[in-house]
Amino acid sequence: MESMLERRRFLAAAGGAGLATVAPAVSSAQPASGPSAATARPASGRERLSLDLDWRFIAADLPFPPILGHEASYANAKAGNAIGAAAVDYDDSDWTTVHLPHDFAVTQPFDPNANLSQGYRRRGIGWYRRTFALDAEDEGRHLELEFGAVATHATVWLNGNLVHRNFSGYTGFTIDLTPFAQFGEDLNTLVVRADANAMEGWWYEGAGLYRHVWLNKRDRVHITTDGVHGDPRRDANGQWRLPVEVELYNAGEAAEAVTVQAVLLDPEGHAVATGAVQAQVAPLDRSLAQLSLTPPPTPRLWSPASPTLYTLRLEVSRAGALVDAVDTAIGFRSLRFDADHGFFLNDQPLKLQGVGAHQDHAGVGVAVPDSLWDFRLRRLKAMGANALRCAHNAAAAELLDAADRLGVLVMAENRNFNVSEDDLPQLQWMVRRDRNHPSVILWSVCNEESIQGTETGVQMVRRMTAAVKALDPVRPVTAAMNSGMFATHNISQVVDVVGFNYQTGDYDRFHAENPTRPLFSSEDTSAYMMRGEPATDPDRHLLADNDQEHAAWGATNRDAWKAIAQRAYLAGGFMWTGFDYRGEPTPYEWPTVGASFGAMDLCGFPKAAFYIRQAMWTHDRPVLTLSPHWTWPGREGQPIKVMIMSNIERVVLLLNGKIVGELTIDPYEMGEAAINYQPGRLEAVAYRGDQAVARAVLETAGPPVRIRLTPDRPSLAGDGRDALPVTAQALDAAGRPVPTADLDIAFEISGGRIIGLGNGDPNSHEPDQPTAAGARRRLYNGLAQVIVQSDSAVLGPLILRAGASGLTSATARIAVTPVAPPPAVPPAQAVQTLTEWRQSPSGPTRPDPTLKLADNDMNSWGWTKPGSSQTPSPAGRYCLFRVEFEPRKAVARAGGRIVFGRLAGRAEVWLDDRLVATKTDPGVGLIAISLPPGDVNHVLAVLFDAPEGGAPFGIAGAVKVEPAA
Ligand code: GAL
Repeated sequence: MESMLERRRFLAAAGGAGLATVAPAVSSAQPASGPSAATARPASGRERLSLDLDWRFIAADLPFPPILGHEASYANAKAGNAIGAAAVDYDDSDWTTVHLPHDFAVTQPFDPNANLSQGYRRRGIGWYRRTFALDAEDEGRHLELEFGAVATHATVWLNGNLVHRNFSGYTGFTIDLTPFAQFGEDLNTLVVRADANAMEGWWYEGAGLYRHVWLNKRDRVHITTDGVHGDPRRDANGQWRLPVEVELYNAGEAAEAVTVQAVLLDPEGHAVATGAVQAQVAPLDRSLAQLSLTPPPTPRLWSPASPTLYTLRLEVSRAGALVDAVDTAIGFRSLRFDADHGFFLNDQPLKLQGVGAHQDHAGVGVAVPDSLWDFRLRRLKAMGANALRCAHNAAAAELLDAADRLGVLVMAENRNFNVSEDDLPQLQWMVRRDRNHPSVILWSVCNEESIQGTETGVQMVRRMTAAVKALDPVRPVTAAMNSGMFATHNISQVVDVVGFNYQTGDYDRFHAENPTRPLFSSEDTSAYMMRGEPATDPDRHLLADNDQEHAAWGATNRDAWKAIAQRAYLAGGFMWTGFDYRGEPTPYEWPTVGASFGAMDLCGFPKAAFYIRQAMWTHDRPVLTLSPHWTWPGREGQPIKVMIMSNIERVVLLLNGKIVGELTIDPYEMGEAAINYQPGRLEAVAYRGDQAVARAVLETAGPPVRIRLTPDRPSLAGDGRDALPVTAQALDAAGRPVPTADLDIAFEISGGRIIGLGNGDPNSHEPDQPTAAGARRRLYNGLAQVIVQSDSAVLGPLILRAGASGLTSATARIAVTPVAPPPAVPPAQAVQTLTEWRQSPSGPTRPDPTLKLADNDMNSWGWTKPGSSQTPSPAGRYCLFRVEFEPRKAVARAGGRIVFGRLAGRAEVWLDDRLVATKTDPGVGLIAISLPPGDVNHVLAVLFDAPEGGAPFGIAGAVKVEPAA
């Protein structure tokens, strides 16, 4: 364990490490642990506290108990009385502790009877519970829970109240917890039931709380979640303006007048435009403040090559005091889809070199740490891609942040094609959340809907388009069509830009018949290959890694792009897919569990398609790659096919220094040569004229003798969130990677944790995460991936060791830079609290403390919750309180004590019809009673003696049943 001093030093260093020119309006440098961790509030008072850590979890369908009897039925119908695992008092002590993001499907076994689209993983139902305290000083502030998304149907209870149902696994939601909140020693209990038996896709969707959860604390008058709209526009006369809309909410009791100030900060943090507007907000109401900023006439533009971000800072003040502030990253760029000339960004033609992708990654499933989005986007950029289609659902907010930062154009997509009252808000939520991102260039309302060529489809898309335009009048709306586009009425007529999925043969006909409709390929290719496989073998479910095999409806990478590249009117295309994904195994099914359409495998390791795309999509430097490898023991003298992928026309091949071929590389077909195998060095040299401009080498490897570990980055942020992939491979005696190695590797870690393991083999049924047997993974065609994460409780470095039988092991030391974890809500120990009390009327005669009301009598006695005292009644001095309870497991096992934190007045306490304590002091005091072990229901009664005119009486604070120490 680190010492407190070390911890303090670590955090002090962390404070200095993140210095930026633009001081964040929302503070982000607070220690996470300890109840006071979140108290260093930013000047605006706005706090966004992570609720990712320390959830109690169980993967099980916990049915609600039957409600029998009148009293139970009556109570069930009252606020705050959720039952079963949703009840405040449910005993979750034998559940496991998990941290978010969390995908419980990825740890389920593969099952041939489970759904193949979901990767043959069982899904099922999971329950999550989290207890937390709110400071007394939070009373009067606005409190909100914010969920990134829950897979798939979510039901949420707060303090025993059902507060939200959400029917899409891709839609975030917020819950106003202000009216339900409890402060001080009264804890708050948040419960989520995630029903992942519901499915929305035909791919692996994961299960549970797989995105972040936040607790937002704000002033009573504040900017709502996603309530800022600031999207720079360039007018026809070339002038930039920045219309700003800010949605305000007032949770207070009176109308409020506030000033909203907007500041545009350039990338260096200098204010370059300001504006202010007054706003009135009625109590429990929203209002929209609108203003317009005049940016500098020539702002630095955002583009994939130069993703320059500005900051729009909004500040709300009341009577001169700052009460809220929000920073939003924005970018200046213009976009235009032209029916004849394709896509233009900042008035320059730019072919969309895009990929579609789902959101799961090796090891972690859909519980993708934020830093892995950066990794995946960097891999796509390395391939030459400039665009990503988030297929077929709203992306994680953090992915779009990364796309803004790294410069990737995004086609954002809606999931459920429906305009019902449940579904249309899903689309509106996505647009509202994502409309400030410069990366987002298209809103896709649907994908391959069978009603795309019908009047119903048209009517639905009209309504969806109108809903989008009401929130974002600027970005074009599209729909991904795979039929119906020539029907008299079809959805292409009611979108701005038409997307074709696969209908390559119809590009020209559509363009000819619809000369004013901009067109692009929203999906194409669907070529399948498995990384490093030299040949297709149906018996072993293998697919050659050479861009030959493709689905009947698709094409090779080369043909698909050639069709797009050669048509100037096409705005570009999105190949299916950038990365492999779980589920939708094609063309083989069980035991194959994942799709092989990716240019990269599930880990992001490149296949031939990656290098083909790189050659076709790189225009500013020479690229040259040979594939697959040159290690063919036993094949001496036999011809071996080699693919040569380059954007340079002339390539010379040399084997062990001798020229064995010269090729003219077709820019789409690439090159292929059959070379008689001799071990050694196969080299390719690309020439422009006489000048060698690129080289690629394959070397024959000997038997593996040692392991090499290569972290994606040299260091990790020590915030307990940052994660990075480490590549494991086997090397021969000369240090050459062995491309055919398939050794079983065991990993050990200190100074961090392993959160996922993968190797990109869609036929593998190995566990994705460490198990009781340890962290192991086989190399697949020479490679495996381990995803490691920092641990905020440990001072680095992170040390990962890898060993395999007969090989020299490897150690990777990853520096951990001190970075404080994000401000977080500390977990609170869940203690049984007795809340549902009955209270007799006050009377002059001492009642029998063992009295029980008839089950159907809801009115002779009242219902009450602890928390306040009352003045004695003129009706009489005696009053009886009564509660029944079942002790939690730890107390039933070993006994415990009942603690009345604040008992007011003179009282007798009776437990199971026996007098156990007498309080003679009329003031407020603490009373503790010991509770014997035993799994039995208890009856607790408090008989107050409160003569008229005397001190107040009652159960003025929480009553807790604590386990024995
Ligand atoms: C498309 C579909 C994708 C994926 C792909 C496989 O029809 O939009 O989600 O299923 O086919 O080739």
